[in-house]
Parts: sequence; structure tokens; C-alpha cells
Amino acid sequence: MEKILDTSKFEELMSEAREASKYSYSPYSKFPVGAAVLYDTGNIYKGANVENASYGLSICAERNAISTAITAGETGKLIAIAVYSPEQKNCFPCGACRQWLSEFKGDYLSVIVENETSCTRAFGIDELLPYSFELK
Ligand code: THU
Repeated sequence: MEKILDTSKFEELMSEAREASKYSYSPYSKFPVGAAVLYDTGNIYKGANVENASYGLSICAERNAISTAITAGETGKLIAIAVYSPEQKNCFPCGACRQWLSEFKGDYLSVIVENETSCTRAFGIDELLPYSFELK
């Protein structure tokens, strides 16, 4: 499997994440986030963060994107995710989302964020969450 996707794919996935962020429900933090996940089947799914008055019940964009994929019947491996917030560059997945990503990762999973110059850049999930928890 290709280790890192070509950058044209990064841009496409990031624009899907940007689109998803428009549907964020984040009246409490006022920090919209959008995520787009790409599977080795070629399918892309989106998610946005959804908050709640009981703050701790809020769900991140990344986990919503993955849940959407699972609910759609996706059985492939996750090969890339783009995360976007209009509020902040370098919007990396939180720790809980990294563990979720790890659950579904393919041989290599690119995590794509926007840097200060609006270019996208990628990291491997194993860089962001080494020694993830797994049940053998
Ligand atoms: N959030 C995400 O959607 N993804 C992350 O990886 C980190 C944080 C959301 C949760 C909450 O709705 C808002 O950003 C501020 O924490």
C-alpha cells in the first residue's frame, strides 16, 4: 500500500473537512471542527463536532466521521483523515480521537491538518499515537 497519499488527495480531503465544519453544532465552545475520512475502498465520509449543554457529552468531528462510515457499512481500512477548524490552524485530533483512528487504521494512516500558510501537511498516526492500546 502507498505509504503517503499524493498531495492532490490531501487537498481534496481537506476541502471535504472544510465543508463538514459548516455543519458543526458548537454553540458552547464556538469552535467548529470538520473531519473527512478516506478508506482504502476509495470512500470518503464526513463529520462535524456536535456539542451538548452537558459539555462532557460533546462528540468530536473525527469520531462522528468514523461513526458515519461504520453506519454506512464501510468495512475497509482507514488510510487518511483531514481535520479542519476555521478557528485554528494545525487542528490535530485529540487523544481520544487518536485512539479511535488507531482502531480502524490501515498499514499507514495519514493525518492531514492545515498549517499556517494554508498548505496541508501529513503525519502518520503512529507518530501521533505511538504504542496505542490494542486488544490482542
Ligand atoms: N473537537 C473536535 O471536534 N475534535 C478534536 O480533535 C478536538 C476538539 C471539538 C470538541 C468541542 O466541540 C470543540 O472542538 C472544542 O473543544
